[in-house]
Amino acid sequence: TMPGILLGELFPNFEADTTSGRIKFHDFLGDSWGILFSHPADYTPVCTTELARAAKLTDEFKKRGVKMIALSIDSVEDHKNWSKDVMAYANEAGSPLPFPIIADEKRELSVQLGMLDPDERNKAGLPLTARCVFVIGPDKKLKLSILYPATTGRNFDEILRVIDSLQLTAQKKVATPVDWKPGEKVMVVPSLPDSEATALFPNGVTTKEMPSGKKYLRYTQI
Ligand code: BEZ
Repeated sequence: TMPGILLGELFPNFEADTTSGRIKFHDFLGDSWGILFSHPADYTPVCTTELARAAKLTDEFKKRGVKMIALSIDSVEDHKNWSKDVMAYANEAGSPLPFPIIADEKRELSVQLGMLDPDERNKAGLPLTARCVFVIGPDKKLKLSILYPATTGRNFDEILRVIDSLQLTAQKKVATPVDWKPGEKVMVVPSLPDSEATALFPNGVTTKEMPSGKKYLRYTQI
């Protein structure tokens, strides 16, 4: 089978060594949502800025009930030592990194989850991990996957924004439009008939007229 994981698939219940000891992934998640984000390597500049931002945002992830875990292809010892740099960069020198980092020295998990970036290699010529973002739902299924190459750092504001959308759209029959932010109008999912939409959304449903005459742009306020 091809490596990688597709939306809706059960996320593997892998075992791994982390900076917080050995874990089984599903036990680590418990009943929570989860985010797993991978990094090319320890002691690299972009990764350091990303982990520091992630550390600063832990309260935001906690508020949303999302357990955080990072991964890179170095050892637990390297992760622990590098974490000190990360926390210093976050202006919190001396504090522990508030989430674990998985050690994937043999790249087994990186291969299994399709996370390697063939264009970025270490001195030995081995591919580094790309910057993957996996959001896993409380049912342990993959809800979101974003894959950035090693040379492009992620936008954690966007990651929180998509989590807000994922959690809202898991509960209500709505979808979030382009550049949506929490509090803004959302769209009624196309599969919901008008009669049910008006009953489901007490704030009303407004439809935008389109040249086609088709009434598919239906908005509501949640
Ligand atoms: C970085 O984190 O800075 C980085 C890692 C691998 C390739 C390019 C940049």
